[in-house]
Amino acid sequence: MNKSIMVVIFSVQISLTCMSIQAKPVVDSLYKRLGRYTAISAVVDDLVERLANNKQLGRFYVHRGVDGVAREKQLTKDFITANTGGPLYYTGREMKLAHAGMRMSKSDWKIFMGLLNETLNKFNIPSQEKKEVIVLIDSQRDVIVEQ
Ligand code: HEM
Repeated sequence: MNKSIMVVIFSVQISLTCMSIQAKPVVDSLYKRLGRYTAISAVVDDLVERLANNKQLGRFYVHRGVDGVAREKQLTKDFITANTGGPLYYTGREMKLAHAGMRMSKSDWKIFMGLLNETLNKFNIPSQEKKEVIVLIDSQRDVIVEQ
């Protein structure tokens, strides 16, 4: 076989191999592994209710309007979906701006992470996915906590 034909065949084979790797990811997105939007929606509803009913964190929810809390839940679902590889675009404010001035403390954050853990356990989120959700959420700590 002519040398240049062999080079063409070889490079076509490499391109096809690369295309098949791109088309079929080895691991599904965290969004899919969590159970897609239905699961994320249930987790966020449960978590926000825990925050609102918590002795220390409840102060952030005193005298909040019903629709304001519903909006917060919806935007949090959008945020998590968009940041785990799901098919939604997050249209809310940046995390720093959305929480600026609330004077969230390190102690608030610790309680919040404990409540997140309770919610993930309630929905039997498997340990690998649970770890990934915790890393994603905890990555927001330094922009949200103010004191
Ligand atoms: C101690 C932890 C947290 C507390 C107490 C808290 C509380 C709140 C409150 C009270 C609001 C309403 C603000 C307003 O209406 O002006 C809000 C907004 C929001 N929070 Fe949090 N939050 C916490 C952590 C987080 C985290 C980790 C995320 C991300 C996963 C998040 C996502 C959002 C989103 C998307 C909004 C709506 C943004 C917008 O209105 O544009 N929050 N949060």
